[in-house]
Amino acid sequence: MTDELLTAVANVHGTPTYVYDLDTVTARFRQVQDAFPGTRVHYAVKANALGPLLAHLAALGARAEALTAGELARALRAGFAPEHVVLGGPGHGVDLARWAGDVGVGLVSLDSVGAWRVWRSVEAPGTRFLVRLNPGFDPRTHEHLATGAAESKFGMPASEALEVAREVAATGKLAGFHVHAGSMISDAEVARLVTEALEPHYADMPGLELVDFGGGFAVPATDLQAFGEPLLQFARRHEVTPIIEPGRFLVAESGVLLTRVLHVKEAGPRRHVIADAGMADLLRPALYGAQHPVRVVGEDGRQRGTVLGADLDGPLCENADRLARDVDLQGVDHGALLAVGVAGAYGYAMASNYASSLRPAQVVAADGSFSLAARREDPSDLWRLEAPVAGGLHALLDPGSDEVDTGGDAAGSSARAAVAGLLASMVTPVRAAAALINSAAENLRPRLGRLEDLTRAFSNELYRPLLGVGPDAIADLDQRIADHGQVARATVRTPAGDFLISLTRERSASGSWRVTGLARDLPDA
Ligand code: LLP
Repeated sequence: MTDELLTAVANVHGTPTYVYDLDTVTARFRQVQDAFPGTRVHYAVKANALGPLLAHLAALGARAEALTAGELARALRAGFAPEHVVLGGPGHGVDLARWAGDVGVGLVSLDSVGAWRVWRSVEAPGTRFLVRLNPGFDPRTHEHLATGAAESKFGMPASEALEVAREVAATGKLAGFHVHAGSMISDAEVARLVTEALEPHYADMPGLELVDFGGGFAVPATDLQAFGEPLLQFARRHEVTPIIEPGRFLVAESGVLLTRVLHVKEAGPRRHVIADAGMADLLRPALYGAQHPVRVVGEDGRQRGTVLGADLDGPLCENADRLARDVDLQGVDHGALLAVGVAGAYGYAMASNYASSLRPAQVVAADGSFSLAARREDPSDLWRLEAPVAGGLHALLDPGSDEVDTGGDAAGSSARAAVAGLLASMVTPVRAAAALINSAAENLRPRLGRLEDLTRAFSNELYRPLLGVGPDAIADLDQRIADHGQVARATVRTPAGDFLISLTRERSASGSWRVTGLARDLPDA
């Protein structure tokens, strides 16, 4: 992606922001197809589960590898057919199995005897099974990524795998075996070791249809041809269709994390460039000591000062909060825009709200233009799953969840208290905006937008008449029982005319009232 495009993204959407180039994803997918002819390519959703990126891969003809109910849901939402999903991972419980069986997941990789017990107990007529073998060798990668090592939790040792495979075969649902040796693997010798581990199983059980070699190709610069050769030979020898599950290789190089320099600290023994992104946005340097290339984008940052040999650190309060160590950042000063590269895989996917950081925006680019795929979080996203806070504003908006109105009577006291609380808190535009956003929750919020938008709306006089009128301004309140719970409508008298505030309390919503509408009462309209 050009500096021009990245600068435009940062100007429009701010930083930190992930940007993914879909053309690079296409190129990597084609490269994999060329190196693995006749092979089913199941994209490992965990690497990057952004909807438009998944949909792009599905449209290219990729299938999916999912690990959790969340990944399966995202894959289906993005357009992968259930029969094109391999559901893997060591944590299959009954709920997941039941659901995956219901939706018709095509293949399941059994990681343990226990997993087979779970799957045997559910209805899954459309599902066939792979048995995951722990090959028990050192796959020559970071210890966190060495899933094929004998002491790792993944798969079953040879004899147990064979035993389980025989049981599955007896039900007529065994498709083959699965090995995922690890991640960030570039040594083709590892591929040879994988086939060596699988050999006795395929020799013992003729008539299998598939073999799943997992993912794990390193970036940059894995020689896919060399890596694929022993795998494809194995598949030909046993007349089985190969499956691979690349995640990182398909998406890592498509992505950068854009971040801006906040401060440059030069006085100590080590130079520190403090950026607005850190371990909460891109965890890999802190967790694995991963090295991501960093470059300065555009000319702006280069004109002022020079920083050579610096640590690129994040904004949080711990030493692990860094993006890179000892990098040359020619000429950066505060305000400079940086691109942290090879960040399309396991970047946003592992981002967190640590220290109440707001997760970055995500933008997709294709053919030189870009569009927002997921907005940056705002503070209200941090507590959107929380129950209301006791005391203060929320308590006013959630008056007595144990109290049940039996309906009918003109003014249920709790709805009145909710409107009264709302009005009492509407003393300044910012507090009013926050109060409305909080009390509107999911209903009104998509229409109200973000806190900033609403604050702007207030300054445009949109709801200004409601500021400072207080609880006494409630002139009337109707309340009734509806199918989905209780609804109420308050008429609020303001110097600029009457306002209508609608509220709902769903039966299932633990007794809290939500604002569902705000309107001026215009009797003549
Ligand atoms: N298949 C299975 C069964 C896996 O467990 C994985 C990754 C893949 C496929 C895809 O591997 P890939 O081609 O992306 O290397 N968070 C780490 C990576 C963990 C990978 C876990 N399993 C990182 O940031 O490097």
